Amino acid sequence: MANDNQTDAGADTADLFRDEANEQWDAIDSFLAASLVPQDDVLDALLASSEAEGLPLIQVNPLQARMLWLLARTAGARSALEVGTLGGYSTVWLARAVTGAGRVVSIERDAHFAKVARRNLKEAGVDGVATVEHGEAIDVVSRLVDEGAGPFDFVFLDVDRVNNTDLLPLALQLSHGRTVIVVSVKDLLRETRGMVKFLRSQPQLAATAVQAIGSDGYHGFLVIVPDRH
Ligand SMILES: C[S@@+](CC[C@H](N)C(=O)[O-])C[C@H]1O[C@@H](n2cnc3c(N)ncnc32)[C@H](O)[C@@H]1O
Repeated sequence: MANDNQTDAGADTADLFRDEANEQWDAIDSFLAASLVPQDDVLDALLASSEAEGLPLIQVNPLQARMLWLLARTAGARSALEVGTLGGYSTVWLARAVTGAGRVVSIERDAHFAKVARRNLKEAGVDGVATVEHGEAIDVVSRLVDEGAGPFDFVFLDVDRVNNTDLLPLALQLSHGRTVIVVSVKDLLRETRGMVKFLRSQPQLAATAVQAIGSDGYHGFLVIVPDRH
C-alpha cells in the first residue's frame, strides 16, 4: 500500500512539473511572439475561420511561422512546396515570403480541410500565389515529380502520421542544390530516426536537427540543403 501511495505521489509530482513547464513555455512563447511577430488581423481571421469550420488548431505557432518566412526570404525563394496545409496558416506565411511572381503549392489529404484552406487563402488575398492540391502526400508529391513541377526553392514538410523517410527523397527530386527543406517533427524519437539514417547515407546533403520546446510542447525541426557546397 505504501508503495502504491508513493507511486501515486510520484505520478502527481511528475504531472505537476510537466504542467509547470508547459505554463512556462506558453508564457515565454507568448512574450516572444508578442515582441517579435507583428499582430496580423488577416491571420487571426484565418484561424477563427478554421476553428469555426472544426479544424484542429495544430498549425505552426507564430514564432515558427516567422522562422519559415525568414528562412524562405533569406533563401530568396520564389517558389515553395508545402506538405500539410490544414487551414492554410503556414501557407499564407509562405505565400508572403516568395518574392516577385512567386508560387506556393500546398498538399492536404483531408477534403474538408483543403476546401476551408482554399477559401482562407482567397480571403487572405494570396490565392493567386498559393494553390492547394488535395490528396495523399506521397501520391501528390510523386505526381509533381512526374509532371516536372519542380524545382522549388523552399520545401516545408509538416504532415503527421506520414512516413517522412519516404517523403524526403521525393522532396529532394523537387529541389535544387540551394533549396531549403524544413521538416517539422512532432515525435522526435520515432520520426527522426529514419530520416537521420537516410541523411547519414547521403553526405552531399547538408543537414541539421534542432530540438524545440514551446507552446506546442516538445518537438523539433530538421533543416536540409541538398548541396553542401
Ligand atoms: C500539422 S498540420 C499542418 C499545419 C500547417 N502546415 C500549418 O502550420 O498551418 C498537418 C496536416 O497534414 C495533413 N496530413 C496528414 N497526413 C497527411 C498525408 N499523408 N498526406 C497529406 N496530408 C496529410 C493533415 O490533415 C493536417 O491538415
